[in-house]
Amino acid sequence: MSGENPSRSSSGEALAEPRIETTPSPSRSSSGEALAEPRIETTPSSSRSSSGEALAEPRIETLLDDADRAFRDVLDATPDGAWFAPGRLNLVGEHTDYNGGFVLPLALERGAVACVRRRDDDLVRVHSTDLGSTVQVRLGDVGPDAGLDWAAYVAGVGWAAVQRGLPVPGIDLTVSSNVPAGAGLSSSAALSCVTARAWADLAGWDLPDVEIAALGRDAENHVAGAPTGVMDQLASVCGRKGHALEIDTRSVEITWLPFDPASAGLALLVIDSRTPHALVDGAYAERRESCRRAAAALGVEELRDVPVDGLEQRLAGLPDLLRRRARHVVTDSDRVEQAAALLTSGADPRELGPLLDASHASMRDDFEITVPTVDTIQRAAVAAGAYGARMTGGGFGGCVIALVDAAAVDRVTAAVTDAAARAGHPTPVAFVAEPGDGARRLR
Ligand code: GLA
Repeated sequence: MSGENPSRSSSGEALAEPRIETTPSPSRSSSGEALAEPRIETTPSSSRSSSGEALAEPRIETLLDDADRAFRDVLDATPDGAWFAPGRLNLVGEHTDYNGGFVLPLALERGAVACVRRRDDDLVRVHSTDLGSTVQVRLGDVGPDAGLDWAAYVAGVGWAAVQRGLPVPGIDLTVSSNVPAGAGLSSSAALSCVTARAWADLAGWDLPDVEIAALGRDAENHVAGAPTGVMDQLASVCGRKGHALEIDTRSVEITWLPFDPASAGLALLVIDSRTPHALVDGAYAERRESCRRAAAALGVEELRDVPVDGLEQRLAGLPDLLRRRARHVVTDSDRVEQAAALLTSGADPRELGPLLDASHASMRDDFEITVPTVDTIQRAAVAAGAYGARMTGGGFGGCVIALVDAAAVDRVTAAVTDAAARAGHPTPVAFVAEPGDGARRLR
């Protein structure tokens, strides 16, 4: 897997690392398993599916047990502690974060649990219980193009810390996650941020949360080669229970806004289309490049600098494709500001609905990042009574979020499942999300 990068230690001694071993996972796989029946998975607080089926996804305690057991069985060692970092769900503001615009994510209660031990040497040993894969590499061999596969999200954090001149000890780490990969819920940020939080605590780096997030992002951008913006890692590190985060991605200023759908009799239903995307694919980078070209053609530093007032006139001189790309970014960033104003004023969260629908239409028609599976689900959710629905995350698959009456969760889930079946799409999996806390030490 890592074949083209024969690694050497700084002394020139030949090493077998980076070494990636993949074995059948001793535990469950967190995604990809075949689902015969529609399944509703809820967070523990809202507990059960219509059929009374218990939570199918492992709880944090189970993830901790898995990571802890693997530490002893696979790494043959005892961890110094355990950490958690959540995946994120973006309410609105998609592909605005690399244009200096606004985003409105929240941290999920799902995430990655890592057991970690500080080492006395420069070795990084990591094991994923979900993938059944173990990777071992010397810190000096970590960097762009190191061929580390998934372990780039872990070892890359050490590389990012070295770039900042921080003292970086080696670590042993095992990780177990219940964020489905490629679903637009930032399983990768959960991994890079749980690593950054743990490494900082063990090495004694005294960094503010935004810097912890930046370590995770640098690992993703430079070592894993995923050209993400700033949103995912900030949400994973800085999330707060009961709150969404309005982030000005230019100043990286965060405003925590109360968002508690349950107290308004609502549920934020997350419907995984089970059409995974991959951010390292070219389409994400292509959208970034289109935005850069549109900004250059408009004579602004970033699309953030284009006011929404009189937008059509401002964009009129652009070629059609760039005009639509820019229109999506400017209007979606504006929808974040509208949504934030609603939450700030304490308005009924149902009023967010039309903004979600408009965001989806903009992603579908102007930014062209939706796919038939998610369009079918979005339409079916709205037809079944959702106040609003949109795809969330980077796009080209992944999840749809729908704001629904708490009592309508089963009905909307059944409707989207039925619509997906009729269209010949994979059976979706749904769960109810509640805003949770950001990255933290568990023990
Ligand atoms: C991915 C990236 C984020 C952001 C979203 C789209 O999740 O990691 O930085 O660009 O796509 O909003």
